Parts: sequence; C-alpha cells; structure tokens
Amino acid sequence: MLDTRMEEAINRQINAEIYSGYLYLSMAAQFAELGMAGGQNWMTVQYQEELSHAQKLFDYVIERGGRVTLGPIEGPQTEWKTGLDMFEEAYAHEQKVTGLINDLTTLAIDLKDHATHNFLQWFIAEQVEEEATASDMVQKFTMAGEHPAGMYQLDKELAARVFTPPAAE
Ligand code: FEO
Repeated sequence: MLDTRMEEAINRQINAEIYSGYLYLSMAAQFAELGMAGGQNWMTVQYQEELSHAQKLFDYVIERGGRVTLGPIEGPQTEWKTGLDMFEEAYAHEQKVTGLINDLTTLAIDLKDHATHNFLQWFIAEQVEEEATASDMVQKFTMAGEHPAGMYQLDKELAARVFTPPAAE
C-alpha cells in the first residue's frame, strides 16, 4: 500500500508529465507555423513520450493499490520566435522535471518506500537522457543559426525521430 504522501506526490508528477506533453505539443504547433515539419514531428514524438511517462506513473499507483486523482492541466505558452527559443525552454523545463523526480526519490527514501525508490530509478535514468537530448538540440540550433541550408538539414534530421513506447525499449 502506498503512503498517502507518496500517492499525492506521484499524482502531482502525473500532472507535471501531462503538462510537459502539453508544452511540447504547443511547440509542435509553433514548429508547424514556422514551416518546419521536422521540428513539428520531433515535438509530437516528445509529447507522446511525456504521455507515456504519465501513464507509467498512473499504472504504478494502481498497481500499488493507490488512488489516481487527476487535476487540471495548466495551459502552456503558445508562442515562440525560433526553434532555438523552444529548445532552450525545453532544456530548462527538463532540468526542472529532474528536480521534481529527485524530490520524489528523496520522499521515497524518507518514507522508506523501497518499491517506489526502485520504480523511480527508471525516471532518474530517463531524465539524464532527456536533459542530454535537449541540450544537444540547443547546440544544433545554435550552430545552424540563421543559415537556411543548415536549418533545412536540421529539420530533415528532426523528421526522422519516431516514438518508441518505454516498454518496448
Ligand atoms: Fe517526462 Fe521530459 O520528462
């Protein structure tokens, strides 16, 4: 059985993951507006990934006999000027999410909840990847700068990303 404090904290994380998805879906819309189909695809895949993170937490709460309570999702920003602006925000956002996962892990340790501590290791590793990917994209967009040829190549690269459900990884 999950401690109520752990249950509430994981419920808040479900909300945070869905918000992350919402944020990236908003960025997908902005990439579409900028005429960058690759960027739109990349952000749509990221949106799907975030929903899968929320689902993983959801399933865990149920599996532990807890109660899932879904709250309202905050509206994301809807306008960015450039792809670089979006990835800089994505990088900052992922750093924030890492902080949330670390707080959840600290709570699991404080509550001596070894099962949740073990479960959260997947998210800890995932956040290392999430931060590295976003940081890499910031670098690529910075290098491409305002050069149309560089941006065209980069957009083609972003178009190749496909969603892989976590269970199949
Ligand atoms: Fe669910 Fe982007 O971390």
